[in-house]
Formats: sequence, C-alpha cells, structure tokens
Amino acid sequence: MTMTKKIRKAVLPVAGLGTRFLPATKAVPKEMLTVVDKPVVQYVVEEAMDAGIDHFVFVTGRNKGVIEDHFDIQPELEDTLRSRGKTAELKTLEDMLPAAGATSFTRQQAPLGLGHAVWCARDIVGDEPFALLLPDMIMRAETGCMSGMVKLYEKVGGNIVSVGQCDPDLAHKYGIVGKGEDVDGGFRITEMVEKPEKGTAPSNYFMNGRYILQPGIFEILSRHERGAGNEIQVTDAMLKLADAQPFAAYPFDGETYDCGSKDGFILANVAYALDRSDIKPLVADELKRLIGRA
Ligand code: UTP
Repeated sequence: MTMTKKIRKAVLPVAGLGTRFLPATKAVPKEMLTVVDKPVVQYVVEEAMDAGIDHFVFVTGRNKGVIEDHFDIQPELEDTLRSRGKTAELKTLEDMLPAAGATSFTRQQAPLGLGHAVWCARDIVGDEPFALLLPDMIMRAETGCMSGMVKLYEKVGGNIVSVGQCDPDLAHKYGIVGKGEDVDGGFRITEMVEKPEKGTAPSNYFMNGRYILQPGIFEILSRHERGAGNEIQVTDAMLKLADAQPFAAYPFDGETYDCGSKDGFILANVAYALDRSDIKPLVADELKRLIGRA
C-alpha cells in the first residue's frame, strides 16, 4: 500500500456568477438552490463529511454570505424549534452542522475562473493534498463519490479525478480523460482534453466535478495563465501537474446532476423526490399523469 497523507480538507469554490441560471441566481447563489429540501451545496458538504474530510474551505464572493449563514447555528430558530418540541427538525439542523472551526471562508474577489478560485484557497489548504468538489454538481449513489475516491487514493496516491461515462456523441461538451491501465478500483489517466473537437475524444469518460489534488497544483495556478473563455482553468493546471505526477481516474458508479444547469437541476429534484418515501407516491403519480399528457 502506498503511504499517503490523509485528505483532511475540501475546497468548495462558490464564487461563480451562475449566469446559466438567471434570473434565479441574481440574488440567490446557485449553490443555495434547493433539491427537494436541501441546498445543493449541503449535499456536497455531506458527501465530503462521509469521506472523512473534516475541514471545509469555501471560496466565496459578494452575494454569497447566505452560504456562511447556512453552515452556522441559528439560535432564534433553534430555540423556537426546542420550545415547540420539534425535535426531528432540530436534529436535522444539528446533523448537518460542521464542528466549530471546521469551516473557512475566503473571497475570490473577481470570478476569474475555477482555477483562480482554487488558487485562492492555497494558504488555508497549505502543503497537503486536498479534495476539490464543484458545489453545483451532486452525485447520487449508494457509496458517496468522494468516499470511493479517498479509498482509491489510499491505494495509489497521487492525484485522482472522478469520471462518469457520457454518450460518445456528446463528448465534445465535456472534459474527457484517456484510459490507461487498470489500477485497483480505477485506471491510469493517459491524457485530459477539455471539450475535444467532435469525433476526436480519447474516450467517453468525462470529468464530473470531484478531484483529489496534490498541493503542487497551487504553484502552477499561481502563474495565472488564462485558458478557454479567457478564464484560469483548473484542467490546464492539472495537465501541467500530470507531466510530473501520476493521475488516476475513479469511475463513479452513480448519477451526476449538474445543478448549475436548468435541466440538471430539475432532473436532480425529480430523482431525489422519488427517493423519498414521504413524497414519492404523489410525485410519481403526478409525473406519470403529466407524461401521459405530453
Ligand atoms: P461554473 O462554470 O459551473 O460556474 O463553475 P459559474 O461560472 O458560476 O456558472 P455559469 O456558467 O455562469 O452559469 C463551477 C463552480 O466553480 C465556481 C462556481 O461557483 C461553481 O460552483 N466558480 C467558477 C468560482 O468559484 N469562481 C469562478 O471564477 C468560476
């Protein structure tokens, strides 16, 4: 078994403007839009908690203060729930609360790209490997995606990228990885291409928003090189890091919902509603009726 440093910290970049989801995201951060009854970002924090991560670094921007409030206590609300005997609701709030001191918030100041947002977390992360979770992507599965990634990391070390499989005809819309030899619970990555030209993708394995990265990524990001869309891209920095360090892919066995897009968000709501015994019967019946009419 490879000797690896434990993954203790997760970086959650929440400073983007969410332009694909306007007008909803004008005043409300897209990460706070709810899937059934939880904000999208809470699903992601819970996935990281389940993987044994114990510090959450949020890279925020103006307009995002409500995310900080969501992961804090709310004394008036809690007192009221207590005095009304609403113990189930109180427990729901307690269970989701990170421990005191287990969250950090830093500001990106200007949304110069995901790579830039990650770089803003450099001092808080320090010289240790960390998890990066895109907080608008939620992963539905029996075993949490990050838990599976941490297990693979403990075996092979280096850098890990989670991948899903897309329709090969749609590979040009994603960041795609090339598949090399199998390793225990994953495979080696031979190349990474962001939005390959149609018909040129090396596989249909797309990067679905979860990474374990070595701290060497920060030095590369500090060069502030611009890529696609004139933004500082994390994929460009990973490509450079891959010249010096191994990358393995974790094939995620579940559904990925991009809640930063309207269709992904709606599908996530339907899927999670159908998982819930309290609302499934009504939702399922009504969906069948609507589809029958469509
Ligand atoms: P996206 O590209 O999906 O977010 O980035 P966006 O730019 O907000 O979305 P659109 O395209 O305008 O609708 C993925 C994640 O990275 C964060 C976003 O908040 C999102 O959670 N991000 C993106 C930053 O923190 N800073 C950035 O400069 C860009």
